[in-house]
Amino acid sequence: MKNIVLTGFMGTGKTAVGKILARRLGLVLVDVDAEIERERKTTITEIFRQCGEAGFRDIESAAIEKLSAMKNAVLSTGGGAVLRADNMDALRKNGVIICLAASPETILRRTGACKNRPLLQVDNPLQKIKELYEFRKPYYEKADIIIHTDDMSPAQVAEKIIKAMKNR
Ligand code: S3P
Repeated sequence: MKNIVLTGFMGTGKTAVGKILARRLGLVLVDVDAEIERERKTTITEIFRQCGEAGFRDIESAAIEKLSAMKNAVLSTGGGAVLRADNMDALRKNGVIICLAASPETILRRTGACKNRPLLQVDNPLQKIKELYEFRKPYYEKADIIIHTDDMSPAQVAEKIIKAMKNR
């Protein structure tokens, strides 16, 4: 089976769904942000602070290039990974790209209490989510499959992905 690559905005449930998928399908779960933090022995927030967003994107691309060579994996990517065509090309070689979508209000609710997303540490996070989402929409839409998760639990989303993967 090809890798399952989860893309989508922050708070769309990539990590939660990835865990269920990996368990159900006996695949290894690889969270790109967690791998970056493990390798660099620091947090994503700290990388943003030290290197800025552009520096983080370079680190993210290097991690994606390496990790996309894996087999039998669920690869959960950070919300901005879709922005670089090279990232998508690398991920697509071995994988089916599945984008999880949600409304800005759902995203705000799911990310609200979390302080570990540097891009959302602003006075008006809902406005920021809307702006980023609007800009990124065409990138997210390049996925092979898009799943709207607003009214679904992570288990339901995972179920839908498992069904979709059977036809691939
Ligand atoms: C980002 C999403 C984050 C993380 C970083 C940047 C983004 O990952 O990679 O804070 O640009 O959308 P999650 O989508 O897993 O929160």
